[in-house]
Amino acid sequence: MASNTKTMTLIKAEDLSKNFRIYQRGDGIKGYLKSFVKREYEEVEAVKDLNLEIDEGEMIGYIGSNGAGKSTTVKMLTGILEPSSGTIEVDGRNPHKERKKNAMNIGVVFGQKTQLWWDLPVKESFKLLKEIYEVSDEDYDNRIDEFDEVLQLSDFWDQPVRKLSLGQKMRCELAAAFLHHPKIVYLDEPTIGLDVAVKERIRDFIKKMNRQENITVMLTTHDIGDIEDLCERVVVLDTGEKIYDGQLNSLVNRFTSRRLEMDIRNGEKFSIELEGIKEVNKEDGHVEIVFDREEISASDLMREVLDNYEVLDFQIKEPDIESVVKKVYNEGLED
Ligand SMILES: Nc1ncnc2c1ncn2[C@@H]1O[C@H](COP(=O)(O)OP(=O)(O)O)[C@@H](O)[C@H]1O
Ligand SMILES: [Mg+2]
Repeated sequence: MASNTKTMTLIKAEDLSKNFRIYQRGDGIKGYLKSFVKREYEEVEAVKDLNLEIDEGEMIGYIGSNGAGKSTTVKMLTGILEPSSGTIEVDGRNPHKERKKNAMNIGVVFGQKTQLWWDLPVKESFKLLKEIYEVSDEDYDNRIDEFDEVLQLSDFWDQPVRKLSLGQKMRCELAAAFLHHPKIVYLDEPTIGLDVAVKERIRDFIKKMNRQENITVMLTTHDIGDIEDLCERVVVLDTGEKIYDGQLNSLVNRFTSRRLEMDIRNGEKFSIELEGIKEVNKEDGHVEIVFDREEISASDLMREVLDNYEVLDFQIKEPDIESVVKKVYNEGLED
């Protein structure tokens, strides 16, 4: 990610689109028969003309409201789904055409879906993965020891997968995704439904893998903490289209307002008119000004206030990431 060192583009999607056809069938036998004659369908554009480049070693957050097309993107990048149009190159390969080779190179976690063998003890599941990914005995032993330190797999190493709690299962999924030293790991809602302690453990693990082995991570999550903790760069998807790609900080700056809160003598009489002020709220002597940081600086605003009023106390409140991400998930970013 550092601009002075040469970074390699690992994932490149160009004009990537995926449409789904949803066939509609009328009610009853008549509708059923009719559906053979005339196939009526609705076309859903799950992903539209997506351009995306991800460099080696990056950790990007891929966010957007439900149905935005996040999982569909991940499925195309992993080779599970074939794009309707556009191209994808992952480490020089077309992931769909070279699914097997691509699979050796990547790790994936899909929310609550498990890729482990339900009836097998965890230990046996991992032995199978070891064989599939052709991990050497020595490397395997080291890897499991190392993972155990952060994910504490030994707590349930001998238990069948189906007996594990959600948090334990997810710890296994994470370990499985990183077992074979993949270049890229795609995590689609890996912390959904987990308690804080498990989330933290999982984040620590992802961070460690990224720092230590430069593994590229693409993370889809509803959890603000995950994004704050792990991702410098975020991509925002809205009904299939990319509407933001950049630093998390700039996203926050761009889409939220700052607040200046003051206690002012005779504050109830306070009034101000300046470009960039979005809201003025007054209660007793307390005044809150919501302003757009792009249009007016806090110092200019402060100066204007101080010229006209006696300020007893003041505080500038920065926007919080939580409100931005909530906005992204709830309404998209476009005002
Ligand atoms: N297999 C499918 N068949 C039909 N429609 C689908 C299929 N998978 C996803 N969709 C639709 O594509 C859109 C994007 O879905 P998805 O990628 O799962 O969104 P997200 O992961 O952002 O919640 C949604 O409208 C969803 O209903
Ligand atoms: Mg999804």
